Amino acid sequence: MKNLAVFVSGTGTLLEAMIKDYLPIKLVLADRECRGMRVAMDAGIPIELAERTDFSSGFDRKTYTQWVDKILSIRKIDFVAMAGFMTILHPVIFDKYQGKILNTHPALLPSFKGDHAVRDALAYGVKVTGCTIHIATEELDAGKILSQEAVPVMSDDTVETLHERIKRVERWLYPRTIREFEKTI
Ligand code: GAR
Repeated sequence: MKNLAVFVSGTGTLLEAMIKDYLPIKLVLADRECRGMRVAMDAGIPIELAERTDFSSGFDRKTYTQWVDKILSIRKIDFVAMAGFMTILHPVIFDKYQGKILNTHPALLPSFKGDHAVRDALAYGVKVTGCTIHIATEELDAGKILSQEAVPVMSDDTVETLHERIKRVERWLYPRTIREFEKTI
C-alpha cells in the first residue's frame, strides 16, 4: 500500500478506527497537542507536531503549509487523509498532491460546508444529515465526492449527540473509502 499520512487536530477517534482497520499509516501529523497524538503514540505510529501557534487573521498559511509539505516529503508520503484536521492549508499543497488529499466532512456536501457543519445542520432543522468523504481542494469542502452516508437527526439531538452519530458512520466509511481510493492512485 502507498504511504499514508493522517492529519488530526482533535480527539482522533477516526484515526483510532483506521488503526483498528489495520490501515498501514506511516505518519500522523497534528497541528496542535491533542488526543489524536496520544492515539498515534499508543499505536507506535510516527508523529509530527507541526504546531500552529498563531490563530490570528495574520496567520502565515503559506509558510505553515510549506513546512507541512516538507515533512511529507521527508517521510515519503504518497497520500493524506485529513481526519478532523482544523487548519485550512494553502493551495501550494493541493497543487503538489493533486487529488491525493482526502477529507471527511460531517454533513452531506454540498450542504453545510465549513467548520460548523453539525451545528448548522441542526440549526437549519434538517431531518437527515450525514457525512461525506471527498478529495480536498483549494476550495473548502468542494472537491470530488468519493462516498457519502445519510444519518437521521433526532428531535432531541444536541450538536454532541448528532456529531457522535455521524462519527459512528465515518469510523467505518472512511477506512473503507481510503482502501478503495488507494487502488486508484
Ligand atoms: C469528524 O466528524 C470529521 O468529519 C470532522 O471532525 C471530526 C473528527 O473526529 N471534521 C471536520 O469538521 C473538518 N472540518 P475525531 O477527532 O474524533 O476523529
